[in-house]
Amino acid sequence: MPDAITSLRDDHKKVEKLFKAFEKLEKNDGSATDKRQVVGEIIRELSVHAAVEEQVFYPAVRKSVEEAEDVVLEGLEEHHIVKWTLSELEGMNGDEERFDAKVKVLMESVRHHVEEEEQEMFPKVREALGRKPLVELFETMEAARNEVPDTPQPEAPDEAPANLTSPTAAAAAGQPTAKTAAKPAAKGGLLGLRRGKGGGKS
Ligand SMILES: [Fe+2]
Ligand SMILES: [Fe+2]
Repeated sequence: MPDAITSLRDDHKKVEKLFKAFEKLEKNDGSATDKRQVVGEIIRELSVHAAVEEQVFYPAVRKSVEEAEDVVLEGLEEHHIVKWTLSELEGMNGDEERFDAKVKVLMESVRHHVEEEEQEMFPKVREALGRKPLVELFETMEAARNEVPDTPQPEAPDEAPANLTSPTAAAAAGQPTAKTAAKPAAKGGLLGLRRGKGGGKS
């Protein structure tokens, strides 16, 4: 059974594979179309991954693991820069003079960020939370995956709204649960970020 941390690590591996695919194309003079296609996948993977961390994982960590506060704050700033770069790449075709350079700088930033999460943040979180809450958090993250946008949203709020569905994870993240919240969460949270328009489970 995966937990929050093993699942985030799996995402990191998936993204690293895409980075390698891009590097290979670049080395072999791959076409702009092929490079842009790989970058499209990178944009989708990283957008969802960053949103799930911001909406579910980081808030739970901030609430429960005091010594991880600094690394979470740094992580949010790194996400911020990455999301702006992703949104610029989204508007490019792959044949621009600066396209490859932009992707390379993105890869450097993400690799640095992933290393900090895996080396500094995750071990502290695993030790502080233990297996069961991490499994619950994983379930909340999986639910969030279907709700967050798969395009970069650099201007959207990067802190969790009061809309977490698992009571344990919500409590861990310091959010009101379905029981304690008087009303469904305000707009602008997971609901506000949901793909498409007009949908709403609550
Ligand atoms: Fe992250
Ligand atoms: Fe991550």
